[in-house]
Amino acid sequence: MKAIVFTKYGTPDVLELKEIDKPIPKEDEVLVKVYAVSINDWDIGLLQGGDIINRLINGLFKPKIQILGSDIAGRIEAVGKNVKKFQPGDEVYGDLSGSWGGFAEYVCALENKLTLKPAGMSFEEAASIPQAAMLAIQGLLDKGQIQSGQKLLINGAGGGVGTFAIQIAKLFGVEVTGVDSLEKLAMMRSMGYDHVINYKHVDFTKNGQRYDLILDVKTNRSVFDYTRALNRNGIYVIVGGSLVRLLQALFLGPWISIISKKKICFVALKSNKDLESMNELFEAGKVKPIIDGHYQIDEVPKAMRLFSEGTHKGKVVITVENNNKH
Ligand SMILES: NC(=O)c1ccc[n+]([C@@H]2O[C@H](COP(=O)([O-])OP(=O)(O)OC[C@H]3O[C@@H](n4cnc5c(N)ncnc54)[C@H](OP(=O)(O)O)[C@@H]3O)[C@@H](O)[C@H]2O)c1
Repeated sequence: MKAIVFTKYGTPDVLELKEIDKPIPKEDEVLVKVYAVSINDWDIGLLQGGDIINRLINGLFKPKIQILGSDIAGRIEAVGKNVKKFQPGDEVYGDLSGSWGGFAEYVCALENKLTLKPAGMSFEEAASIPQAAMLAIQGLLDKGQIQSGQKLLINGAGGGVGTFAIQIAKLFGVEVTGVDSLEKLAMMRSMGYDHVINYKHVDFTKNGQRYDLILDVKTNRSVFDYTRALNRNGIYVIVGGSLVRLLQALFLGPWISIISKKKICFVALKSNKDLESMNELFEAGKVKPIIDGHYQIDEVPKAMRLFSEGTHKGKVVITVENNNKH
């Protein structure tokens, strides 16, 4: 089978398209023929091996897991003898982070990492959902306790998480401000953001506006700046961002909460937890993934370069195999 492989840490230039053996599922695994896979920030971190956390996960000096790609959608081709939930032919999707292997024509996965794909959802749409939509749901609902009538700000609003978060937030009847670069503001307005801010021109923590809830995928300021932009009893939810800023928020957050009545929360991704809810929202026409692509499997390096530069809108998706049905 074809796979995008890397044997040393580096830029997308170290990725190679190779012919390798098709994997064989273990007793508790299924073999999935991959139709589509999307790119996540985590793929970039593991590829670069740029920080100690990614090196601890995937090898100090060279990568142990050599095929990246976690968010896949495809059709089950074979099942191990202990698999109960699926059978060959089922169309599934899910987040395989931890084992990865999605930038390939076939991948093996534990059955609990996969969910049936609704018939009306394309493989590309399904592949765009797992990490980004789970972070949006868990950030807004589980941590942010979003409520109707609130003022919400999403920082990093035009990427994967932000384009799911705006659609979910609007179901709660909130007023939403989105912060991202100029090139994404028109798309964001068309998606329903009530106000948009170009972060290169305006610092939303210093323009006098206050929010009940902030969802931040790009934490890059001092935690004091963020709490200044919150109303009393407001909640600041951190999805991701600079390690230094995350550590600062982790240590100072509890003290700030005691003194100011404002809450600082972190999302710890629970992979695949809310995929069934996403299926319902999708089938009810309430959420539609925004896809940047479609790239082919040999274009993974190019797609990862574009993702790293941040020029993409929504989710960057690779079509591994075209499927005319969906
Ligand atoms: N908490 C967890 O358990 C967990 C698990 C997995 C991933 N994560 C995190 O989740 C996040 C994934 O986000 P995503 O998929 O939505 O990323 P994304 O698709 O790259 O979107 C991020 C957006 O932020 C914009 N941006 C860049 N710098 C900005 C700034 N200073 N202010 C405002 N916006 C800015 C980018 O646009 P431009 O670059 O064009 O400006 C881009 O549109 C990452 O931070 C990742 O580390 C967290």
